[in-house]
Formats: sequence, structure tokens, C-alpha cells
Amino acid sequence: MTLLPGLLDTEAIRKDFPILDRQVHDGKKLVYLDNAATSQKPRQVLDALNEYYERYNANVHRGVHVLAEEATALYEGARDKVAEFINAPSRDEVIFTKNASESLNLVANMLGWADEPYRVDSDTEIVITEMEHHSNIVPWQLLAQRTGAKLKWFGLTDDGRLDLSNIDEVINEKTKIVSFVLVSNILGTQNPVEAIVRRAQEVGALVCIDASQAAPHMPLDVQALQADFVAFTGHKMCGPTGIGVLWGRQELLEDLPPFLGGGEMIETVSMHSSTYAPAPHKFEAGTPPVAQAVGLGAAIDYLNSIGMDKILAHEHALTEYAVKRLLEVPDLRIIGPTTAEERGAAISFTLGDIHPHDVGQVLDEQGIAVRVGHHCARPVCLRYGIPATTRASFYLYSTPAEIDALVDGLEHVRNFFG
Ligand code: ALA
Repeated sequence: MTLLPGLLDTEAIRKDFPILDRQVHDGKKLVYLDNAATSQKPRQVLDALNEYYERYNANVHRGVHVLAEEATALYEGARDKVAEFINAPSRDEVIFTKNASESLNLVANMLGWADEPYRVDSDTEIVITEMEHHSNIVPWQLLAQRTGAKLKWFGLTDDGRLDLSNIDEVINEKTKIVSFVLVSNILGTQNPVEAIVRRAQEVGALVCIDASQAAPHMPLDVQALQADFVAFTGHKMCGPTGIGVLWGRQELLEDLPPFLGGGEMIETVSMHSSTYAPAPHKFEAGTPPVAQAVGLGAAIDYLNSIGMDKILAHEHALTEYAVKRLLEVPDLRIIGPTTAEERGAAISFTLGDIHPHDVGQVLDEQGIAVRVGHHCARPVCLRYGIPATTRASFYLYSTPAEIDALVDGLEHVRNFFG
């Protein structure tokens, strides 16, 4: 057994995750290395979901009966947990959405419909990066097409980091918003937030951070990040699907217009016009994902019980080990940083000229689950001249033995394809 400093007690942790005991393909032990796509869920979260539906299910903010009040308290209690988890100055800055994509679309649409000084129009520029997930590219393309704003982006260095050499030109007086990923889902790169935020603040631009691959894996402090918006999703951090978060600075949320209209986001409605409820409700039209928020609250309790700094140390040790072991595999090329510093626990690679879909399929036959493809970050594949990658990604229950299994599996892939 490989022992690395900083590892969590995975034997104990894995007992909380029933799915990790599964066997696939006629008795092969499941090796789940697709955590950047979605994490598995501990029993504590499954129990919270079950208990919610068995005891409390009702619509929130609407009823005077016991169940409605209890469900509302649970839903709003989940908001408190999220606010504390990300060190938000106020719980009213936490908006529940469906996922990170919806959170990012919400920001783009707020700015598209906003009045001055936030309005994005044909005299302004939007800045993103070449390593964004499609969910942080397409909403800005749509906004640029609708408003005539210019879309600009930072390119990538050969070793998978942001090329900020032209930062003063890319972010300039015309920039209204800079939106970038904290940790790349395809490259694993962790980006230098401070340098980008400093430049954005110099020119008075807003900053939006996609923290989907960061929130599950490291302590997240929105005040330390000094951004204006931070988006992430619940299902990658042990929570259920169908729940995302947008954190936004209170004064912005007060000023910016809603995107979706409907029940619960209003103050008064007449046939001619409406006024809106204060944030966060202004941005939560319709029946919200109540059970999912409760599940996310349980996931946060679970992660806190382990400790986000300990999870980060565990994944750092695993990533260091995985990079070393993967680089021993002949013909394997890591797409992204090849050190464990300033990177997350998702590692993309190519294996000679074997197509990643074939790699993934042969690994799957051995019980090893990885993701293959462009990982919803196709511009990265174009940048590095590859059609796709194979990606292994780790979480708090991943073990060095699973990394060894991956490396053995890749050896098998190479033999299989001669
Ligand atoms: N964004 C998720 C991934 O990177 C789905 O796999």
C-alpha cells in the first residue's frame, strides 16, 4: 500500500459512500476517477434528502402550515450554511440556481439588462480566457452578440497556464466584466486570481469567478477572492444535482435587474408593472430546488466535518503522486501543468495516438471510470492541437491504489492497441 503524507483516512471515508462498493463488468471493483464531472454522495446527504421528502416536503415561503414553515426553515438554513462555507458577508448574497451554468448565465443576463454603470453595450468589452468551460464562454458570446460588446480572452501558455503577458491590453478602460475559472476542469490549472482582480479593479471592471472545480476541493473565501460574483455547483461537492450557487456582492444584487420573472421574486404585481423582492429572492423565480438545497447543506456539513484544508492536502498529495506515476507511462502526455503546484486534482492526458474514447472504453472494461472528450472546454483542445483528452480526477475518497490501478490500466490499453 502506498502511503503519502497528508492523506485522509480513506478507509473510513469510503464507508460513507455506498456506491464506491459497487462492482462493474462482471465483478470488477469500481475505480471512480471522474470526480470533476460529478462527485459521489455520502450516506449523510442521501439520508438528508430522504428525510426531507419523508418528513418536511412542502413549498417554501408560501404556506402558513407546519410543513411549509419547516421546509422554509430548512431551505433558508441551507443558505446560511452556504454563506458560512464561502465566508460571505451576508446570507442575502447567496442565490440558489440550478447549476453553475445557470449562475453564470444569470450574471451575463443581469449585465445585459442593467442600467449604467453596469450595462454591457457596443462600447464595452467582456474578458474571458481560453481555458473556460463552455458555460463561461457561451453566455458571454450570447451577450456580446445581443449587445454588440467585444469579447476578448487571455490565451494559454504551452504548459497549460494563462498567458497574462498582455494583461494591461486585454483588460482596459472599456472592460465591463472579467469572467474566469479558478481551477480549470480540463487542465487542472489553478489561476492567479489576485493579479487578474487587481487589474480589473484598476479599470473599474467587475469580476466573476467560476469556482465549480474549486469549491469542492479547497477552502473558498469570497471576501479574500475580492471578486464581485462567484459561481459553483452542488453536485461536484457531494451534493445532489439540480442545485447551484451564485454569490454576488450585496450592493450589486440590489442594483442589478432580475433575469427570470415569476412567483416569489416580486414585491407587488399589477397588470401594468411589478416591483421586485430584495435579493436573493429577486433572482429565484418560481419554486426553488428545495430538497436539493437541503442536500447541499448536508454536503457542506459533511465536508466541514472532514475539513476543507485536509481535503486540499489529500488531493495535493494524490495529484503529486498521480503526475509522477502518469509521466512514467510511455507516450503519455499531460495536457496541463506537470507539477502539483497551483493545480487541482483533474489531470488530462493523451496516450500516443490512441484515441481517448478508446482509452476510456478499455479502462472502463477494467472498472476504471474516467471522462474522455473535450470536457466542455473545446477551445483548449484546439489550442493544443488534439481532438480530445482522457481525464482522471480525484476527490476526498480517492486513493493511491486507484492511481496505481489507472496506471496498470493504461499499460493494458497500450498492449491492447499494440
Ligand atoms: N463540467 C463537468 C466536467 O468537467 C461536467 O466534466
